Amino acid sequence: AVAAMPLFLGGWFNWLTGPQSTFDTHGPVAKSQLDVFYVTLWVTGITFVIVAAIMAYAMLKFRARKTDDPKAAIPHQGHGNPLIELSLIGLSVLALVFIAVPTLKAIWYTYDVPADQKETAYEVTATGLQWWFKFEYPKEQIDGAGNLVTANELIIPAGRPVRVNLRTADVIHAFWVPKLAGKVDMMPNRGNHLWLQADQPGYFWGQCAEYCGESHAVMRFRVIALNETDFAAWLAHQKSAARTVAADAKLDGPVAAPYEFSNPGRNAPGYSKEFDSAPFVAWQNQQKIEAGEDPVLIAQGRKLFQEKSCAGCHTVRGHEGVGTTAPDLTHLGARTTVAAGLLENTKANLHRWIAHPNEVKPGNKMYVGVPTGPSIMTGYLEIDKATGATVKEHITVNDA
Ligand code: CUA
Repeated sequence: AVAAMPLFLGGWFNWLTGPQSTFDTHGPVAKSQLDVFYVTLWVTGITFVIVAAIMAYAMLKFRARKTDDPKAAIPHQGHGNPLIELSLIGLSVLALVFIAVPTLKAIWYTYDVPADQKETAYEVTATGLQWWFKFEYPKEQIDGAGNLVTANELIIPAGRPVRVNLRTADVIHAFWVPKLAGKVDMMPNRGNHLWLQADQPGYFWGQCAEYCGESHAVMRFRVIALNETDFAAWLAHQKSAARTVAADAKLDGPVAAPYEFSNPGRNAPGYSKEFDSAPFVAWQNQQKIEAGEDPVLIAQGRKLFQEKSCAGCHTVRGHEGVGTTAPDLTHLGARTTVAAGLLENTKANLHRWIAHPNEVKPGNKMYVGVPTGPSIMTGYLEIDKATGATVKEHITVNDA
């Protein structure tokens, strides 16, 4: 036990400070949930100490002793003590009520943005899919393209309540950002929701928290909270088209204005230690990398994107791709990760992900018409030339 102690303490330390620690709260919802944990811990902890102390006392006081007379009569065998039994039931009920009242209050509190803050609240819709998260911004309309849509990185304004509508496109998932809020299930045919608020700008890890199939464990996302100015700049950057077809044809023009993040500096009121963390710095750099991409490479990529049927499932605004069953890839270059928070967004990882999606994330639905790990998809669609309708699918998926 002594040898195992450092392991235990190391684990404890990680629970308190790790990237998915519910003890390191950064907003009012997570705080209220932690408060319920402490109420329960205190009530059950005190109960445990009292019960254990009485048991220890009884075991020591009434233990068999060498000096006991073996022939002595057995002690009085009582049937029970109504007074003690009733008080124990009463005390247990009291303890449970003591836990239930703050628990119910917290459940109601975390369910939706408090009435007096509804005016300032922001709204997003999170949809779970096997195995990634889609984030829609109903308040941000883009000409001819509907809502602003992103994937696997939820950018929110810091210091403002955010109502998150929870949807699923397939099976049950759950939305959980341990430092901010959760976990609430995303149920088919049911509109759940929750709210969260990051008090300071920062970078927070999220995770699907309901078993949803083969790659549940790697169904991750990130929440990035920005101050109002940065949030507005980020929105403007996102709303711009990835790069126009016309610009591609000429092989010039900028990809998109780089999003410049303003770190307020260590002593500024809006400063968060998260700003200096490696993932946050990587995220900022990612914006500049996207802006500096070579136009010739981008044009080549666009051609591949069309030829390899990527556009059937993915969207890149400014291009022909309009698929909605897979993540919106507009400004993919500006994201820190690919494959739903699984791999750092580097060229090598992106290549690996596209070439061998099933090796990276087993069971996922990204087939590219070439061997993809254990699955090989081959075939073609028979199309009616007059109407353009699919006559028959000649497709085999060979799970070799
Ligand atoms: Cu989605 Cu587990």
